[in-house]
This record gives sequence, C-alpha cells and structure tokens, in this order.
Amino acid sequence: MKVQFTNLYKANRANHRKIFQKINQLVKDNQFVGGKEVLAFEKEFKKFIKAKYCVSVGNGTDALEIAIESLNFKKGSEIIVPVNTWISTAESVSRSGHKLVFCDIDLDDYTIDIKDLKKKITSKTKLIIPVHLYGCASKMNDINAIARKKNIKILEDCAQAHGTKYKNKKVGTLGDIAIFSFFPGKNLGAYGDGGAIVTNNKFLAKRCKLIKNHGAFNKYDHHFPGRNSRLDAIQASILRIKLKSYTRKINKRNELAKVYYKELKNIFEISLPKKPKDVHHTYHQFVIRLNKRNQLKKYLKKNYIQTMIHYPYMLNELSFYKKIKGISSLKNSINLGKRILSLPISEDHSISEIKFIIEKIKKFFKK
Ligand SMILES: Cc1ncc(COP(=O)(O)O)c(C=O)c1O
Repeated sequence: MKVQFTNLYKANRANHRKIFQKINQLVKDNQFVGGKEVLAFEKEFKKFIKAKYCVSVGNGTDALEIAIESLNFKKGSEIIVPVNTWISTAESVSRSGHKLVFCDIDLDDYTIDIKDLKKKITSKTKLIIPVHLYGCASKMNDINAIARKKNIKILEDCAQAHGTKYKNKKVGTLGDIAIFSFFPGKNLGAYGDGGAIVTNNKFLAKRCKLIKNHGAFNKYDHHFPGRNSRLDAIQASILRIKLKSYTRKINKRNELAKVYYKELKNIFEISLPKKPKDVHHTYHQFVIRLNKRNQLKKYLKKNYIQTMIHYPYMLNELSFYKKIKGISSLKNSINLGKRILSLPISEDHSISEIKFIIEKIKKFFKK
C-alpha cells in the first residue's frame, strides 16, 4: 500500500462535476472579478462562522496584513505572535512597521503558551495573534482575560481552523477580528489562493473593505491609498460548493484522529497531541512528537508512507528573526522542529490506510 500525505485531486473528486460546470458558466458570463459569487460566498461563510461581517481577500497573508492595518495602532506598537506557526503570521507584523514579539507554545496542543504570554505583555502591547494551529483552538478564555484587562486587541489566525469550535463557538468570533486562508491544501481550500477577514465589528469590517479595494467602496471614490486584494469569482464559486459538504470532511478527520489516538496511545516513545475538552478540533494536521523523528520518517518513507513537518524550524531560528524580542523565554519550543511529525489525515484517507500507517509505526517501535 502507498499512502500519500495529500492528494487534492482525490479529495475534491466528489465535487468536480459541479465545479467544472460552474467554471464553464462563469467564463461564459464573463464573471471573473467581484460579482454575485463573491458576495454570496461572503454571506455564506459569515453564516457558517456565525460572524456579522466577512470581507474576502486574495489570500490569508493579505488578510493578516489588512486586518492589522485596519486596527490602526501607533507605529512601534508591540504585537505578540506564537513562535510555531507559518511565517505569514509574523511576516505580516514585520511588514506593518510594528514590533514583533515572540511567545512560546504549549506542548500539549501547540497553541500559544499562556504562562509565557503573561510575561510578554508590556505597556506597548496592542495586539495578540493567537494561531489555532493544526485545527486546535487556542485557550481563548485565558487570552481574552489577559487582553481585556489591558485593552489589548485580539486577531485570531484561523488559517488552519475553519469550523473549529471553542466552548461551542466557532473560532473567528472569539476576538476582535479574525483571518482565514483558502490555500488549496487547507481544510476548506480553493483551486488557487483565497482568504477572508471575519469580524463582528462594523467599523473594522468597513476599514478592511476599503483597504482591500484601493481605499474605495465604489469605483473612483478613493478615501485613502489602499491596495488590491481580491478573492476572484471562480475561487468564490468553488468555495461555495465545497462549503456545502464541509462538515462531513471535519467529521471524517475526527474519525481518523480517533483511530490514531486509540492505537498509538500505548507507545510511550510518542507524545500525541492533547485534545482540550473545550475544543471541537478540525485536525488540519495530526502532529506527533518523538525523539526518533528522523528515523521514523525515513522508515515510513521506505514503506511508501508520506509524512510532513509543520514546521521544521521555529520562527526565531530564521536568520532575520534571531534577535526578535521575547526569544530568551522560549523554552518549550526549543528544537521542536526536530521532534515533530505530521501523519497523513484527510477526508480522502481511508481507515485502512490509517491502520496501515499505525501498523508500520508499531513495527518501527517493535510493539
Ligand atoms: C497559520 C497560518 N497563517 C496564515 C497563513 C497564510 O495564508 P495564505 O497562504 O493563504 O497566504 C497560513 C497558510 O499557510 C497559515 O497556515
């Protein structure tokens, strides 16, 4: 048996007929930018998240940059970002002209570490960006309690967590503003780039809408210099089709995660991700931690099983982030990139594939 990490063609197969028909129609109708499909997707996505406003944009990185700009902090404000995330979360802060501060992560669930977060707050802290990494919600009650006391804003990075719930509420509604990515490999992915900003704050939604459209609501009506960031009509229509059956995907991922938990729990050499009881997880990734990571990865590859690493470095290990504020207290994340391994998990994997992976892992540890 061969197990690929992801096969987007296979994962999207059930929707192909509808998607190709829709693309055909849009091309015939000359619908490429803006229009009905984009507006309908924004409406359907905000309903799915149960948020008041949704502003679609070109990708998740743009969404972060635009959301930060909309908050309009004084130059040099401090923004706290967990050190284990995709570079976009930190990059958007660096490019905003504000001061990036790194925070450690909790090894139980890989989200921002609350103890270290408390240490990182100063009078200049204006924003915390919790990342709901791998589909697991951050500890939003604690983060909100810290932020509210000091009038600090919260921007949720939900790029990996479409539909994840925390205390029965969808992520994206638990801070001041939130972003999503629809990169093809995400749980809810387009056939190209895409992103969205979600908020319950009318003023912020309006600012984001202006920034992403050259500072204008209507053509030639510019209020300030903005930029161009659009979700195109074809991507919006694909996302609309995929959103309809999205819950089924999440259920399948949860079903597969259950098999991993049951079968791997007795291998003491492996640390499984802890599933916090308040979280409905969406398993964008299933990440295990072990000292013999490289050996296991190699062994699985020899047995035709693809795995990945999210991420092979912590952001403070990048040469240009080596001197960023906050790194001296990063303890949990030291060398983490050398010990984590993402196992295959997607709606397109079968239980027998997951059992095959488990069998090989057990064999590796001679269990
Ligand atoms: C946590 C996180 N934030 C932001 C992004 C950026 O999204 P995009 O690739 O759509 O720009 C990603 C995408 O990989 C991500 O995983």
